[in-house]
Amino acid sequence: MTQEIILHYKSADGTVRTVDARVGDSVMDTAVQNDIDEVVAECGGSLICATCHVYLDDATAALFDEPEDMELEMLEGVAAERREHSRLSCQLIVKPELDGHTIETPERQ
Ligand code: FES
Repeated sequence: MTQEIILHYKSADGTVRTVDARVGDSVMDTAVQNDIDEVVAECGGSLICATCHVYLDDATAALFDEPEDMELEMLEGVAAERREHSRLSCQLIVKPELDGHTIETPERQ
């Protein structure tokens, strides 16, 4: 059985939407499946568009490995402000420990 967790997506205007996320899906896939339009994901997760940019808080960022070189390179081209814990959500795989965490979306992609 696929395990599900709760994930919150917070947009730049402060709106928070709570969705069910399947462990093993990406944070990008979860957003797209749940109509979180702030995550555009033009390339569908191929790491060539940088339109799946999200912000993590310290606790959430600590749950993931550091970004690989290719992701860091793509993060240089994000449309919105880049922050300390900016990530590309297609590279973040939902895991049980992520339950109840909040993913912040930027004001534009
Ligand atoms: Fe294109 Fe993540 S969906 S880089």
